[in-house]
Amino acid sequence: MFTRHVGLLIALLSMPFALRADEPAKPGDSRYEIRKDHDPNGIGKFYLGREIAHVMGFGPGGQGAEWLERAVREKEEKLTLLIKSLDLKPGMVVADIGAGSGVISVLMAEKILPGGKVLAVDVQQEMLDRLRENTKKLKITNVEPVKGTQKTTALKPESVDLVIMVDVYHELEFPYEMLLDISKSLKPGGRIAFVEYRKEDPDVPIKLVHKMTEEQVKKEASLPEFGLKWTKTIGVLPWQHIVLFEKRPKPDR
Ligand SMILES: C[S@@+](CC[C@H](N)C(=O)[O-])C[C@H]1O[C@@H](n2cnc3c(N)ncnc32)[C@H](O)[C@@H]1O
Repeated sequence: MFTRHVGLLIALLSMPFALRADEPAKPGDSRYEIRKDHDPNGIGKFYLGREIAHVMGFGPGGQGAEWLERAVREKEEKLTLLIKSLDLKPGMVVADIGAGSGVISVLMAEKILPGGKVLAVDVQQEMLDRLRENTKKLKITNVEPVKGTQKTTALKPESVDLVIMVDVYHELEFPYEMLLDISKSLKPGGRIAFVEYRKEDPDVPIKLVHKMTEEQVKKEASLPEFGLKWTKTIGVLPWQHIVLFEKRPKPDR
């Protein structure tokens, strides 16, 4: 009960950190639909039937980042269990897309040693600066901050073993373009994990546009041009599902 109230409070508190969309969808862009009537927590831009959420901003004084780093997050979201579910191995190259201030990157960094590294991608420079400070304080040397754009990750083709997006995909302003870019960065057989608040569950105390159903994630990630194949959905976390896809090997010519 207490957790639920804290969660509700958090869901309400997250609102002031919403960022304005940088590049409003153009009316001629047929992949996306602009609607006047929409959820106030969304940007009024729809993709495959779903409204895209506002990006969570760094916030004045860094409150957005503080929210991501809140001590109660482990209890609410069981981050340790999330990391265990990812099957991380030494030497892996992991891309944490929408890394924010680095909470998830930090938890993964040690698990892929020796030899592995985390490429922590974000579009907000303040988040990346904070991530750099956080990893420095913790003496973690295998997390590399990477500045992306709304449509690109800046990752090299076929260079990544695992891509993870924790509470990120639903707020990508250009989900199609990003997923195309992300899928190119995966090695054949590489994996992508979508960690999203479960929209199927009304008890998950998060605003609707910040939640996604498993079915919607599958619908969006299964477009043939991405070359991704759903492998499993892990349901061990209290609020989120982990929806996993694998990059298909290139067909023989
Ligand atoms: C809700 S935060 C989650 C941060 C982190 N994954 C965590 O769980 O602590 C979402 C992050 O996604 C980032 N983001 C949004 N659009 C992005 C894009 N196109 N490329 C990279 N990062 C993006 C935002 O800047 C923000 O830091």
